[in-house]
Amino acid sequence: MKYSTVIPAILLMATTSAFSALQKTISIIPVPVSAQFTNHGPFTITAETTIGYSGKAKDKAEQLAGMLRPATGFALKVKPSLAKGQSIRLVLEETAGSIPPEGYVLSVAPDRIQITASSEAGLFSGCQSLLQLLPVEIYQKTSVKNIHWTVWAMDIRDYPRFGWRGAMLDVARYYLPKAFILKFIDTLAMHKMNSLQLHLTDDQGWRIEIKKYPKLTEVGAWRKESLVGHYRDRPHQFDGKKHGGFYTQEDIREIVAYARERHVNIVPEIEMPGHTQAAIASYPHLGNTKEKLPVHTLWGVNPNIVNANESTILFFQDVLTEVLELFPSPFIHIGGDEAPKKQWKASADAQSRIKALGLQDEHELQSYFIKRMDTFLAAKGRRLIGWDEILEGGLAPGATVMSWRGESGGIKAAQMGHDVVMAPTTYTYFDYYQSLEKDRPLAIGGFLPLEKVYGYDPVTKSLTKEQAQHILGTQGQIWTEYISTPQKAEYMGFPRLTALAEVAWTPREKKDYAGFIDRFKVHGKRFDFLGVNYHKHSLDIVNQ
Ligand code: ACM
Repeated sequence: MKYSTVIPAILLMATTSAFSALQKTISIIPVPVSAQFTNHGPFTITAETTIGYSGKAKDKAEQLAGMLRPATGFALKVKPSLAKGQSIRLVLEETAGSIPPEGYVLSVAPDRIQITASSEAGLFSGCQSLLQLLPVEIYQKTSVKNIHWTVWAMDIRDYPRFGWRGAMLDVARYYLPKAFILKFIDTLAMHKMNSLQLHLTDDQGWRIEIKKYPKLTEVGAWRKESLVGHYRDRPHQFDGKKHGGFYTQEDIREIVAYARERHVNIVPEIEMPGHTQAAIASYPHLGNTKEKLPVHTLWGVNPNIVNANESTILFFQDVLTEVLELFPSPFIHIGGDEAPKKQWKASADAQSRIKALGLQDEHELQSYFIKRMDTFLAAKGRRLIGWDEILEGGLAPGATVMSWRGESGGIKAAQMGHDVVMAPTTYTYFDYYQSLEKDRPLAIGGFLPLEKVYGYDPVTKSLTKEQAQHILGTQGQIWTEYISTPQKAEYMGFPRLTALAEVAWTPREKKDYAGFIDRFKVHGKRFDFLGVNYHKHSLDIVNQ
């Protein structure tokens, strides 16, 4: 066997070289497509090592120098050539057709480390792997003395299984600071995850500045108080503390640019027509009733949805116009989930609109609403994506479906020839409990342990090969009804997102849970250095 995830051999060096012992293991997560040690000697990064590049790899070369600097303390020189001598070389060959997009080839020999890719994203992935080949202390934020930054000679060839390797962060239920979003992007990037969906609007908060409609944040970003305990607990109790916050357009630009440098696409989610009470509180004419609604303080599915009047459709298109200026994402998420139709059933306006448009019912009215967004986005060169309820009443022609209520919506959409992101509650809802510990912190419910996440396969057997092509990938959800701090978001997210990263990147046949756990023992130390507050007990659960 040429390849092994972990080769547990302590090689005592016969010579009196700089290192006395070197553990010959590969602890890269997600595990590469192929990796094998070679018989050459190791390479050690020193203060004299240079980073040479060819093609348009300057930015990535400088980025790598920046990544290596804090822990090593070395200010490695970046040179526009593949110089001889001890060097790390980044080779960007846009014509290197044999390396798939986002893939890379990494080869280590005594005189050089070379990463070759056909895209900047591929080089970046190769750099992430290089960091994980180095001693874990490379993730320290300040310079570490007495470490040999040594990598064993090897060849890696690697590329992702899926193009959508994502996480969703709900910043609407609780506002999470920009600094945390940036850190979260870094943590995703180290796992070669390339997509972050920001759930920016919901009943309990509107978190993105929209210049045309300032009340969305003046009013909609703030709620009077938050629920204490679980929604199921009665009577409901509240903390009496105003909660809120929002991202200015400047903040958003910063987040998007930061993510872009790390090859993470930010997918904005603007919910409609349901999960919109914060918008209705800001602009009451968006609602169906005369009732003056506050920004919502309870969780759960909410009957207050926006009306489907032409002016409301235009309002949301105005919002999307500003969103499109801020987010270069090819996909724009319009929510579409959990919109009870009770108010539309009772509304004379909604009923006359259904008649005038020749529609059957309220589901078709929602479908009409979403189709208007689909046409709007398509005209601007973007693609609409929504939760699987957008199938109800007829799927918009250009829509991509994010399947959350199990996989059936995703399967149906793929069978209809639509693209799909698999995000089923059963495998990807990281607001579910992850352990059975007595003192586990409050969660929404359910039980989704690490091993179950790891075992997920986004391509179900019921799909033909052609239909399976429509599965773009998978995404882990961090809904925040019961997550009010960055620390808890990390605790719920990791290591389950680590496992999902391997689901999304690694070929199915290379997955190996025992190997993952071994590698995670190393990876956890990286998290410790980075200050990522992961759930440590996850490993014990699987070892029981
Ligand atoms: C969802 O969890 N309502 C998409």
